[in-house]
Amino acid sequence: MDWGWNNRISKLFLPDQHCFYLAMDHGYFQGPTHGLEDVGKVSKMLESYVDAFFVTRGILRNSIDPRTPVAIILRVSGGISIVSKDLSNEEVSTTADEVVRLNASAVGYSVYIGTEYEHQTLMGLFKLVNECTPFGIPVMAVTAVGRELEEKKEARFLGMACRICAESGASVVKTYYCEDFDKIVAGCPVPVVIAGGPKTNSDIEVLKFVYNGMQKGASGVNLGRNIWQNDCPIGMASALRAIIHEKYSPKEAYELFLSIKNEEMPVKSAKR
Ligand code: R5P
Repeated sequence: MDWGWNNRISKLFLPDQHCFYLAMDHGYFQGPTHGLEDVGKVSKMLESYVDAFFVTRGILRNSIDPRTPVAIILRVSGGISIVSKDLSNEEVSTTADEVVRLNASAVGYSVYIGTEYEHQTLMGLFKLVNECTPFGIPVMAVTAVGRELEEKKEARFLGMACRICAESGASVVKTYYCEDFDKIVAGCPVPVVIAGGPKTNSDIEVLKFVYNGMQKGASGVNLGRNIWQNDCPIGMASALRAIIHEKYSPKEAYELFLSIKNEEMPVKSAKR
């Protein structure tokens, strides 16, 4: 691959080959989600802690400072809303020249395996890979499950979906953490990134599932609500960064979170 491709990949994966993406794309189908009403404010607050923002072009143009040091993963699927009957009826929303214009390091696109729109969304993935590859732009496929998160959060289904996305040309696949996550990673020839889901009941819970995912071969995370809906987003982002890039255990990361939350000590090495 060319220099442009390698440059983008080096922003998506740090030298340890791990990654920490902050998902802020929720508005593309949900509107102003709680905690993410002002994306400009959230992005400024957290840009020192994460490697990339996952956003739409509308938010990028209107709310993200072009001087941000953070890589951009552009959400390039859409066509539905939270009040749609079927959340899976998505298509490619953005052209490759628009992605180049916005200088994104990658694009993110949802594939709905096992739904009425499986074929449509898979064909969209093929098209996107065909269009983005000549420009040196990697595609991150999202194994989307719509409203059926609980039923589909299991390794056999998600492993199949990840493998199909990789075989279709995705360079990174994002999926949910679940039991036997290592089997998903073993069957997927490209890096697997853990998606978030609704805010967990306790702070330690998210640190544990991210830690377990990393132990089982995940390359990193693409999380949103568990960070910007937390009472202390900087503490949570620091703690997650420490697990992903600094090999902290959940306990150590939780202590870091608490210390930042309680302002017992200044933000330490987790801040880059
Ligand atoms: C799905 O692709 C969504 O648009 C989000 O990017 C994803 O769900 C991650 O955000 P959260 O951690 O809030 O679920």
